[in-house]
Amino acid sequence: MGIKTVMVIGAGQMGAGIAQVCAQSGFTVKLNDIAQESLDKGKAGIEKRLDRAVEKGRMSEDDKNATISNLTYTTEMKDASDCDLVIEAVVENMDVKTKVFQALDDITPEHAILASNTSSLPITEIAAVTNRPSQVIGMHFMNPVPVMKLVEIIKGLQTSDETYQSIEDMTKELSKTPVEVNDFPGFVSNRILMPMINEAIYTVYEGVASPEDVDTVMKLGMNHPMGPLTLADFIGLDTCLYIMEVLYEGFGDSKYRPCPLLRKYVKAGWLGKKSGRGFYNYEN
Ligand code: NAI
Repeated sequence: MGIKTVMVIGAGQMGAGIAQVCAQSGFTVKLNDIAQESLDKGKAGIEKRLDRAVEKGRMSEDDKNATISNLTYTTEMKDASDCDLVIEAVVENMDVKTKVFQALDDITPEHAILASNTSSLPITEIAAVTNRPSQVIGMHFMNPVPVMKLVEIIKGLQTSDETYQSIEDMTKELSKTPVEVNDFPGFVSNRILMPMINEAIYTVYEGVASPEDVDTVMKLGMNHPMGPLTLADFIGLDTCLYIMEVLYEGFGDSKYRPCPLLRKYVKAGWLGKKSGRGFYNYEN
């Protein structure tokens, strides 16, 4: 059965963007959050981005209105009872996610696919709390969702080829590029990105170079659009530490040990841009 109606759970940074791109591509979308305030914020963000796209000539007024009419907002998860696909984008916490998946397993039709946008948690473990592990899959969008072209599609141990194919087709309908990945810690994106960021932090920790100089080397020498320490500040140093812990624990290999300086900054509350201070100072 084809995917027509989608619920996105969690109207935060990622969920609102995912709902927007699905609605823009003609899917009927229900955006859900437990907090009305988050739903209101998500809706305002979507409408602001659509207005800007029209102003810049990237979208017609008709397409904007069609996108808006494809979207509804709800605090009731039971509204997923007629959905073909649910994309979960709640906080990165296994307990919260498994509760959501158990509830969805009861609410959604038998044919529905349940996807998670998790950036680091094992899909196999999330799938195991449902009675439909073959229909559970990872759909890892990148931030900001309306701009970034990649979707990492993660196959859990029990994910069926049919489920994978439906999600790959849907990803293409969203005008994104799918990449097939098996379920291992960090998938591909964070397994490569986070150790690079961690190594950049070690370089500062060991006094090899300043944060500015490390970033300059990677920007001008490797043609990266943003240096690794600036990127770490944008992602959030708590998130970077969390993902390094997932890699360290998941592989049991010392090459993934989080840098002590990263731990120290997180303990100090220096979490990057969102807290005003990380490797750079954002307060003023
Ligand atoms: P966020 O904190 O901005 O949004 C999470 C939202 O989920 C909040 O609005 C919260 O009210 C809601 N929520 C929490 N529990 C809920 C529940 N039981 N039912 C319904 N809604 C609930 O988080 P963000 O950054 O959007 O991340 C969401 C997921 O996406 C996480 O798994 C994260 O790892 C992943 N991700 C994040 C990226 C990023 O750059 N921020 C990139 C790729 C994936």
